[in-house]
Formats: sequence, structure tokens, C-alpha cells
Amino acid sequence: MANKSWVIYQATLLLVVNLSYGAASKRFSALEPPKDLAILDPGFLGYLEIVWSPPANLPNATQCLTRYQLEYFDTYSGKWSGVRTPLTSHRVQFDLMKNVSVRVYTLLSGPCTNGKMITSKNYTELVYKPPRTGAANTEVQDFVCVNYNMMTIECTWQRGAKTPDNAQQRLYFWHKNLERAQECPKYIISRGFRSGCQFTGTSLPLFTDVNICVNGSSPEGPLQAKFISLQIQNHIKPPTTEKVDVRAGPDSLVIAWEHPVGGAPEHCLEWEVERQLQGPDGKTTRELTLTTQKNLTLPSGNQKEKNCFSVRSKLQNYCVEKGLWSDWSRPACLPEKTDSIPGAHLDISVYFYAVAVIASLVLFLCVTSAAFKVRKSASKPSTAFG
Ligand SMILES: *[C@@H]1O[C@H](CO)[C@@H](O)[C@H](O)[C@H]1NC(C)=O
Ligand SMILES: *[C@@H]1O[C@H](CO)[C@@H](O)[C@H](O)[C@H]1NC(C)=O
Ligand SMILES: *[C@@H]1O[C@H](CO)[C@@H](O)[C@H](O)[C@H]1NC(C)=O
Ligand SMILES: *[C@@H]1O[C@H](CO)[C@@H](O)[C@H](O)[C@H]1NC(C)=O
Ligand SMILES: *[C@@H]1O[C@H](CO)[C@@H](O)[C@H](O)[C@H]1NC(C)=O
Repeated sequence: MANKSWVIYQATLLLVVNLSYGAASKRFSALEPPKDLAILDPGFLGYLEIVWSPPANLPNATQCLTRYQLEYFDTYSGKWSGVRTPLTSHRVQFDLMKNVSVRVYTLLSGPCTNGKMITSKNYTELVYKPPRTGAANTEVQDFVCVNYNMMTIECTWQRGAKTPDNAQQRLYFWHKNLERAQECPKYIISRGFRSGCQFTGTSLPLFTDVNICVNGSSPEGPLQAKFISLQIQNHIKPPTTEKVDVRAGPDSLVIAWEHPVGGAPEHCLEWEVERQLQGPDGKTTRELTLTTQKNLTLPSGNQKEKNCFSVRSKLQNYCVEKGLWSDWSRPACLPEKTDSIPGAHLDISVYFYAVAVIASLVLFLCVTSAAFKVRKSASKPSTAFG
């Protein structure tokens, strides 16, 4: 009996909640999206401020919690992203080379909606087209930044195909620790033109978006601006590995190396070992092995083959999103010989050796026959030297 009334009580409660929720939904079915949506550019080279104001028909604020759902097209990932905020502004990083699309909904919750979340049926939308000035093909090309072992960062570029010779290019950068965009501290000049910018390793923060703009002007007018956003830890190029050592064991080869001190933490590094096997016929094969240790043991293989090993390093994925490979080390070979000697050299040296042997043989014959003649003539009275 008690059980039955409990069930009835439950069902009634459910009905009441549903009814009141239905009523609340109906009451807020005309919930409007926010108005006065605008995008402001504070000059942070892509970090834009999105602002809006509440809709006119918002219910009493003390009983309702009003929030907003901002959705924006993330041009870096090519997907829509979203955030919920009680505020009426939000800052997001955008690529100013592309259109900026944003949408905002109004959300209601709290006692006025019986704790349910109610979303405005419609959204307010805005597509902002960042201003593009400058003649076509005056934008810089092949923009790359390399962080040399956290000591120096160099960002370089090529001039646009239609960039006038008398144009002056400028690089500006901004990150969250700066109040406003700043110009490049030290330009790299090549053949009389600005071709890059150099930063000291500590002047740009790690794990923070650094926004860069390369623009410029010429007497004919402005150049097309190029915008880039990057994090400098993803551009670290470790120094070249030094001291690669190869030792032959009973049936294996042990390759060990030392990494130059300083720079990126060593536990973040991974190494790639290149083995070049050169057979007696001069044919070379190449094998690559990845390792996180500073040594590698490989089967020694055919004794007649010459083995050369080079090592390069990169920051691993668990330390940074992306790393750049260092340059390859100088090869270390077994059997030992200076530098790398590709097959062609060996053939040529064999050829030269043969020529040298023949030449000395000929010379030997000439000398002996001359000596023989001299001795023969010396046995007779001679006038030649007298
Ligand atoms: C809003 O709610 C407060 C307290 O609940 C009340 O005093 C006020 O009159 C209400 N205002 C409107 C416009 O309903
Ligand atoms: C931006 O949108 C306009 C139309 O609204 C379109 O013509 C243009 O190609 C778009 N630009 C980019 C970079 O997507
Ligand atoms: C939704 O809003 C857009 C403008 O943002 C408007 O053109 C459209 O008519 C609205 N739809 C409804 C169902 O109100
Ligand atoms: C280049 O960009 C900087 C930073 O946004 C700006 O202050 C400057 O006016 C721009 N120069 C040109 C020629 O557009
Ligand atoms: C290889 O390196 C590991 C640590 O990274 C070390 O424990 C091991 O002794 C080394 N092996 C050789 C043969 O040097």
C-alpha cells in the first residue's frame, strides 16, 4: 500500500515538473538572441573582441540566469567552436587572412525555467571581412620561423612576385604580455632587402600564441599584409649532435652519441639514426631508426659492408605539438675512415692506384734499361761525360 502511494506520488511529481517545464518553455519560446553583435579589432593582429548586448525581452534577472553561447568558425582547424559565458564580450584568436564568422544565442536557466536550460531558437550572426589592402602578389611568401635551440628565433620570408624594389617591409608581433603590437627588434638583411627578423630566445614566451604581421609600403601604395599565429616551442630546431661513436661487438654494432649541452630539456628529445650500408659493389642502402635513448644496438650484418651512421634530433610530441629536425651529424663509419666516402670515390681511387702501379712499373723499366745501357757503355771507353 505504502509502495503504491509512493509510485503515485512520483508520477504526480513528474507530471507537475513536466507541466511547469512545458509552461516555462512556452513562456520563453520567444526568447530572442542577443543584439548589437559587433567585432572589434584592438590591433592585436588577430586577437579580436566580440561584443553584443542582451535581448530586449529578458525576464526578471533575479530569478533567471542569463548566459550566452558564442559560436565561431575556427579557421585554423576548419571547424566551429563554442563557448558559454555570462558576459557580453569575449576575445578569440582569428586568422585575419580569412573571413571571421560568429553566432550568438541567448541561454536562460535557473528557478524561472525550473532549472532547465532554454536556448533562443535563433541566433545573431555576423561575418566580418578583415580589411585587405595592397596590390595583388605583394604579400610575403614562404614565411618560416626557426627557434635555434631556444637561443635565437629567426623568422624569414621571400618577397612577393610583384613587390616593388623600393618597398620597405615591416614585421610586427604581439602576444598576451604586450599592451600593443611591436615592430621587429632586428631585421635580417639579404641582398639589400629585409628578408627576416631575429629575436633573442627569451624575448618571446613559450606556449602562448604569438601573432605576427608582415606588411609594408612602397611609393606605389601599401603591400598586402600577411598574418601568422604560432607558438615558438613548436619551432625549436635542436643543435647538431656531436661525437657519434660506432663500436663493433661480437655480432652487433653499438652506436652512441652525445648531445650538445643547453637548450631544450634532453628528456624531450628523440633521435633518428641513419645507417648507410655500402656493399663491395658500391651500392648504398639506407635505414632509419627512431630512438629515445642516446645509443642504439644494431645487428652487424655483412662483414664486407661499410657502415656509416648519422644522427639527428627533434623535440618529441609529448613535450611540444611539433618539432623541427636538427641537421644530421657528421657520419661515423666502420671500418673507420675519414668522412663519408660514397661508392664512386672508391672506384676512382682503385683506378688511380692501378694507373700509379703501371706508371711506376714503366718508370722502373726505363730506369733499369737506362742503367743497363750506362753500365754497358761504361765498360767501353767513353767520351760522353769526359
Ligand atoms: C523582479 O523580481 C523582484 C524580486 O523577485 C521583484 O521585486 C521585481 O518587482 C521584479 N521585477 C519585474 C520587472 O518583474
Ligand atoms: C569572404 O566572404 C566573401 C563573401 O561574403 C567571399 O566572397 C570571400 O571569398 C570570402 N573570403 C575568404 C577569404 O574566405
Ligand atoms: C533568425 O535570424 C536571422 C538573422 O540573424 C533572420 O534572418 C531570420 O529570419 C531569423 N529566423 C527566425 C525564425 O526568426
Ligand atoms: C602594418 O601593421 C602595423 C601593425 O598592425 C600597423 O601599425 C601599420 O600601420 C601597418 N602598416 C601598413 C603600411 O599597413
Ligand atoms: C644506452 O643508454 C642507456 C640509457 O639511455 C644506458 O642505460 C645503457 O647502458 C646504454 N647502453 C650502451 C651500450 O651504452
